[in-house]
Amino acid sequence: MDISDLILRAQNVLRSNDTGVFTKPGPRQYPHQWNWDSAIIALGLSHFDLPRALTEIRSLLRGQWGDGMIPHVVYHQSPSDYFPSPAFWQIETNPNAPAVPTSGITQPPVLATIIRKIHSRSPILNFIRETYPALLRWHRWLHTARDADGSGLVCIIHPWESGTDDSPRWLSAMSAIAPPDVPPFQRGDTIHVSASERPHSADYVRFIHLIDVFRRNRYDPAALLSRSPFLVQDVLFNSILYRANEDLRALALELGEPTGEIDGWLDKMRARFDARFWDETHGSYFDFDLRADKPILVNTAMTFAPFFAGLPDPTKARRLIAEHWQNPREYQPDKNIRYRVTTTSKAESAWEPRRYWRGPVWIIFNWILWDGLKRYGFDDPAEELRRDSLELVARSGFREYYDPRDGSGCGSTDFSWSAALTIEWLAGDRE
Ligand code: DGY
Repeated sequence: MDISDLILRAQNVLRSNDTGVFTKPGPRQYPHQWNWDSAIIALGLSHFDLPRALTEIRSLLRGQWGDGMIPHVVYHQSPSDYFPSPAFWQIETNPNAPAVPTSGITQPPVLATIIRKIHSRSPILNFIRETYPALLRWHRWLHTARDADGSGLVCIIHPWESGTDDSPRWLSAMSAIAPPDVPPFQRGDTIHVSASERPHSADYVRFIHLIDVFRRNRYDPAALLSRSPFLVQDVLFNSILYRANEDLRALALELGEPTGEIDGWLDKMRARFDARFWDETHGSYFDFDLRADKPILVNTAMTFAPFFAGLPDPTKARRLIAEHWQNPREYQPDKNIRYRVTTTSKAESAWEPRRYWRGPVWIIFNWILWDGLKRYGFDDPAEELRRDSLELVARSGFREYYDPRDGSGCGSTDFSWSAALTIEWLAGDRE
């Protein structure tokens, strides 16, 4: 592998998706600014163009709502063939909606972690001073508007908020929703990518139905908590938030800001996390469906996400590795599955190796897990993830996701966060 050439090619992807104000996650499939994509993109950009990385974050923050929510999509430019369009969301019915058009839901809050990572390499204290209030307001919004049961754990109201849209972990919650009527719409996500690699239409109809419920309730957070048919506590989202709270706390200390409120969030989350998500029988973390009032017993790689937050105790950490990571029926590669890590266990009947979040390898998830495994000193499994990820991008290009059987690319081409994380891994080694 020619490392310099790979870094150069990754930089070219970020440059070619750059609109000047924000970076498109994918050139045709995703022509607007996505929340967690843009944080990861900023991390990659920071290695070779720090001012542009900070612009990326400032542009995302322009979409922040008056109540603190940072939305999952900001539409700086329109029109495009992407659906839903800004008009479809109808966010102007909410008094907190910002001037720039956005979606009406959020996405995994990885931004504080990314800002701290950038700062650890290239000090950006003034930028932190500028953006800290926005980060604090977002986390406060999550801990109030999305704390459905007062537990300190937050919930999501739409699979798109999980970032893992059609993961089989949402199947039972989604199939319990029978949309009585769905507004007329035309899918845009199968124009540039084969329908066989995108969510099934049964999922998609429900995605749109949920948006319709939210807009009929004018995005009022209390109304959405009580009326959203989909209400779930997500292991991945809560792990990312816990980690982001740790990182926000570190930023607060550098600024000399009080940390009491953040300490309270961390204490509460830590106290409830295992009781809510850990399943002693299966030795796994499972999401919790608040509407059905029961855990979602589906085996996905999100069971490893708590490593990112440093939450599993040593016994649980060892069980996750021995019983799942190294289990040939679940996540251990075999003669058919060459690459780590399938985002759904091979043992799950809903596992599909080329369909979006039903099972392919995603570079973002490999990176989150790599970071978490390093935190635990599980250097060999972490290295497997890094090696496989770099092999995938080197052989198949910067794709949105990959078929774990042969490493062929799926979804969007020239995918920004796959490029950004390649730079993070490779350029990070040389700095
Ligand atoms: C999409 O449009 O497919 C996104 O995943 C939703 O944000």
